[in-house]
Amino acid sequence: MVAMDFQIEPRVLIGRQEIEVTVCRLAAQINEDYRGKKPILVAVLKGAFVFLADLIRHLDLQVEVEFVCLSSYGQSRESSGKVRVVQGLCTDIRGRDVLIIEDIIDTGLTTDFLLDYLSQQEPSSVKVCALTSKPSRRKLPVNIDYLGFTVPDKFLIGYGLDWDEKFRHLPDICFIEEE
Ligand code: IMP
Ligand code: MG
Repeated sequence: MVAMDFQIEPRVLIGRQEIEVTVCRLAAQINEDYRGKKPILVAVLKGAFVFLADLIRHLDLQVEVEFVCLSSYGQSRESSGKVRVVQGLCTDIRGRDVLIIEDIIDTGLTTDFLLDYLSQQEPSSVKVCALTSKPSRRKLPVNIDYLGFTVPDKFLIGYGLDWDEKFRHLPDICFIEEE
């Protein structure tokens, strides 16, 4: 792994080939379930952008892509526990099939908040697609319709996931070794 100018050595947890296989598997399920429909994918910025970019290129559906920017983490590795809408939806989702695209579901607070936020706009359905989930950290239960990987309670970086806005560019899902 590339040495960074700070004392953090990322270790690979899930390699790029395994990610690719899993993204294809999720896309195949979504293609099957949404056949004939025109879902709106709502990706949560910033972390989900890499996953979204790979996933949509395997979708054989007429999809639309929207983004919301939610924030619960500041510069620390712990959630502040409070979710904030930094940028809300810019389109009308009433009567539409909405699929949330998340990088990771950790405490569940963000997804729970987003489900509530989107449901208020009366879509015809809302489902959740998450690349990773850390069930051991859950504070609120979240039903994940499409899940890539169940991951251990480690702080993950890479493939869109950041630590203090860094490391999103790593092609593998890595973890930071605790001292
Ligand atoms: P939750 O609200 O605790 O479920 O956290 C959701 C958001 O926190 C995710 O969309 C990520 O942006 C961020 N997050 C949670 N765990 C990690 C991690 O291990 N690495 C990087 N970001 C994380
Ligand atoms: Mg996120």
